[in-house]
Amino acid sequence: MTRLILDCDTGIDDSLALLYLLGRRDVDLVGIVSTAGNVPVDVVTANNLAWLELCGRTDIPVHTGSPVPLVAELMTTEDTHGPLGIGYAELPPATQPASRVDAADAWIEAATAHPGELIGLVTGPLTSLATALRRDPALPTRLARLVIMGGAFHVHGNTTPTSEWNVAVDPEAAAEVFAAFGRDGTEPPIVCPLDLTESVAMTPDHLVRLAATAGSSPVECPDPSDEAGLRSVSDNALIRHLMDALRFYLEFHHTHDEGYIAHLHDPFAAMVALAPDIVTTIPARVDVELIGHHTRGMTIADERSMTGEPNARIATATDVDAVFDDLIDTVGSYARS
Ligand code: BDR
Ligand code: CA
Repeated sequence: MTRLILDCDTGIDDSLALLYLLGRRDVDLVGIVSTAGNVPVDVVTANNLAWLELCGRTDIPVHTGSPVPLVAELMTTEDTHGPLGIGYAELPPATQPASRVDAADAWIEAATAHPGELIGLVTGPLTSLATALRRDPALPTRLARLVIMGGAFHVHGNTTPTSEWNVAVDPEAAAEVFAAFGRDGTEPPIVCPLDLTESVAMTPDHLVRLAATAGSSPVECPDPSDEAGLRSVSDNALIRHLMDALRFYLEFHHTHDEGYIAHLHDPFAAMVALAPDIVTTIPARVDVELIGHHTRGMTIADERSMTGEPNARIATATDVDAVFDDLIDTVGSYARS
């Protein structure tokens, strides 16, 4: 069994990452950490609990993090993820409460319970992990692997011209996390930046395939260029809610980006966490700009060790078709079961 802790700001693509992990029968999801980001932290927790309850997995604890970043004021992005962070989906509210163990302690307890075994996956701002590192600086030595969705190195940012969302929300936390790795024999985290995650572009046809794999029909998609064309009337609740969430995400990208597609940053990072071999990586020293008026939250990759030893492995290439095959097969089969 592969043991993994998911730290997320659910979030539409976080939701799909969670469902992918639940669909992987070889994964022991030891806990979910809610971090403030796409929506306020209490909403993140409510979403995580609601997905788990819908999936009958109330055995997995959900741990709530700080309502605010380490230093910055919280910004949220309801225009990207919907007023409640899950697009048009209206999940039944969970009846189970969140864990009383807070987010940072959850990281520490999980790493202590499974030393050398635990995979950490962060698909939100790095506030909770940075807080855990402040409480327990030796935590990196007990992780088997850390994968972070974040950063933009050679592409335009998605929050400011130079910054990616997960770093932009809490730049100080990101800086502290990167500073904690790459020394004392710690394995540098694998970073999945926008440079690569924006190539994992979901289309309506992917959703039609996903619904078909789940044995759910019909999902109508008469014209991929018509954002009103994608409608799920499935009697499979999981597929219906997922389609309602992802339709919002497609519409957001259609309005703000280059077409009726959606970037699956977080599900891709989840796959990398379980199978790092699906990406090519380069070692680099990653630092976060904290001061620049125009560049705060920018991630800088020093690939020539001019400023220090590598503290990250930056994912640079993958087989996007294989990524979608795995995602559709895993989530579709899970929804069917
Ligand atoms: C990241 O920002 C969030 O809105 C997404 O969930 C993803 O984790 C991409 O920049
Ligand atoms: Ca996220």
